[in-house]
Amino acid sequence: MVNVAILGFGVVGSGVAEVLTQNKKIIENKLSCEVNIKYILDLREFPGNPFESLVIHDFNIILNDPEVSVVAEMMGGSHPAYDFSKACLEAGKSVVTSNKEVVANFGAELLDIARAHGVAYLFEASVGGGIPIIRPMCNDLASNNIVEVSGILNGTTNYILTKMATEGASFEDVLRDAQHKGYAESNPAADVEGLDAARKIVILAALAYGKLISPNSIYTEGITNITGEDVEFAAGFGYALKLIGHAEKIDGKALCMVSPRLIPMTNPLSSINDVFNGILLDGDMVGKVMFYGPGAGKLPTASAVCADIVDAIAHSDGIKLPEFEVATEDDIADFDNYSCRRMFIFDKCGDCTLDSKVAEKCLGCEIGQFAVKGNRVALITEAMTEAKVKEIAGKLNNCKVYRLL
Ligand code: HSE
Repeated sequence: MVNVAILGFGVVGSGVAEVLTQNKKIIENKLSCEVNIKYILDLREFPGNPFESLVIHDFNIILNDPEVSVVAEMMGGSHPAYDFSKACLEAGKSVVTSNKEVVANFGAELLDIARAHGVAYLFEASVGGGIPIIRPMCNDLASNNIVEVSGILNGTTNYILTKMATEGASFEDVLRDAQHKGYAESNPAADVEGLDAARKIVILAALAYGKLISPNSIYTEGITNITGEDVEFAAGFGYALKLIGHAEKIDGKALCMVSPRLIPMTNPLSSINDVFNGILLDGDMVGKVMFYGPGAGKLPTASAVCADIVDAIAHSDGIKLPEFEVATEDDIADFDNYSCRRMFIFDKCGDCTLDSKVAEKCLGCEIGQFAVKGNRVALITEAMTEAKVKEIAGKLNNCKVYRLL
């Protein structure tokens, strides 16, 4: 029998207890051994809950119990989740987690500790909810040089953007709905301001390029400034507006960013709606591979955590863990050199009878599509660097700029 402890009995933690109970037979048939939930750590009491008798409040009971060999951490936040994970690994217990904040900030260190103690540190649920992405990147795509990773990595914001685009719903109403459904972070600013997606893209970039970049250091722009007008201009040009985490290599150095982007309708990411996530990987050997599924929510995320529990138990005699180290300044590409096509939206100045030819002259770049609605002008430019965008935007009134994918 293998004893498992659950840290954190919130949305995902309670989902893990449910999956381990409801699919007990399926899981145990795969492992040929019994999997028992011995403790559930939480600050709260859960009167009437079927798992009530397992709830404890003292982490040291788990740490000091030699019968517990696998710990599933779903507490959220960096502390004490990082500290508890580290202590468990040092005590020779495998740790599995959905906590992207801990993986994105401390993943390299925790993997080293796990390796040193011959146990597992696994984090399939930290990116893409229920979508298998970490294990495929480590195993099935291991022979590829990953050219580029682009993904819709946050279910809450994709849900909000979908409802805004299809139902004209208000930002606040949809956010409340997403929180109610258990998609949003406890502080939803992490969702809508892009930090959650930033944590996820640095994890994917670490698997792709071997360097873990601090999520707080990458360019991160959320969805709070997107208006219905922006969505309409984008749709008129044939694009969907989505929050995208993107990583690629420029001159041998890794670049990660999060921002709303215009996705051409021919790109499969454009049709990913609601709470679903999608990740498009471009490998030099395999070509483009798409991963798609529920990106947040209790049972989908718990499904990924439980897959890691199964993996940790099945390979308790030694497991191959992902390899990456903390990135240094030298490993990170200069964001100002990043180049892609753009959509500018800005105010017409005075009575100017602006057309695309005049705009090309004013802006000093080639323009593809062009549209005017009342006082607002929108246009799509050729590819240009971030540095060039700043120069052009500085000349325009009330200007917004979106990247194209
Ligand atoms: N708040 C996250 C999201 C949960 O909406 O995607 C899953 O990581």
